[in-house]
Amino acid sequence: MMFTSSLGRKYVMALTGLFLISFLVVHLSGNLLSLIPDGGLTFNAFTHFMETNLVIKVMEYVLFAGFIIHILQSVVVTLINQRARPSKYAVNAGSASSTWASRNMGILGTIIFIFLVIHLRDFFFELKFGDDELGLDASGNVNLYKEVVETFAMLPYTALYIVAMFGLGFHLWHGFASSFRSLGLMHSKYTPAIVFIGKLYTIIVTAGFIIIPLYWYLVQL
Ligand code: HEM
Repeated sequence: MMFTSSLGRKYVMALTGLFLISFLVVHLSGNLLSLIPDGGLTFNAFTHFMETNLVIKVMEYVLFAGFIIHILQSVVVTLINQRARPSKYAVNAGSASSTWASRNMGILGTIIFIFLVIHLRDFFFELKFGDDELGLDASGNVNLYKEVVETFAMLPYTALYIVAMFGLGFHLWHGFASSFRSLGLMHSKYTPAIVFIGKLYTIIVTAGFIIIPLYWYLVQL
């Protein structure tokens, strides 16, 4: 079966990974709107658009499927690898030929997963199933901005987000180029460019996601 062979599994990890990488760009762009000093009008209008646009609504299901497949497949790959590698050879896990991030993708992924569960409870479920306590802004859109500002007035949440974003950063540091490698797209001519873009992407996305909680925490001290 194409997706259960070891190569197929790598493809699935890589394709869902690249899809999630593109989601992060959209998500970060939307979240950065919360920094515009207009009382959240732009941010709430963007959220409203994302909540009501049909294409985005469909993409939301694809997104959740992407997360679930990426996570389940990683668990399967880890279990298979563990079974294939007797522990007496654990000596091989040295750092000569691999980076710290590449050897800890599972742990980093677990940190992101725990973050995601807390994150979805706070924002996504609040928006979808919250009891309307958010209220509306001056333009009549649900005031999710208020939730963002209030969440990052709290030190534990702010700290959690920042720690989780470092986990995400290391995960992407290895994951970006690794996806291209798994898809067989690393031709020697393009390898340096892909590695460079991956690192640039990782630094920008990680820094962007950290700036939001950090900014809101500091201005409310
Ligand atoms: C500063 C960091 C972040 C902030 C302020 C933030 C904010 C939000 C908000 C306000 C929502 C609900 C409204 C919306 O749909 O846009 C949301 C949903 C969501 N967030 Fe985040 N987010 C952050 C980081 C992340 C990260 C790093 C991930 C993934 C690893 C993530 C994954 C999701 C998912 C999957 C949803 C639900 C799907 C969706 O509605 O797009 N978020 N986030």
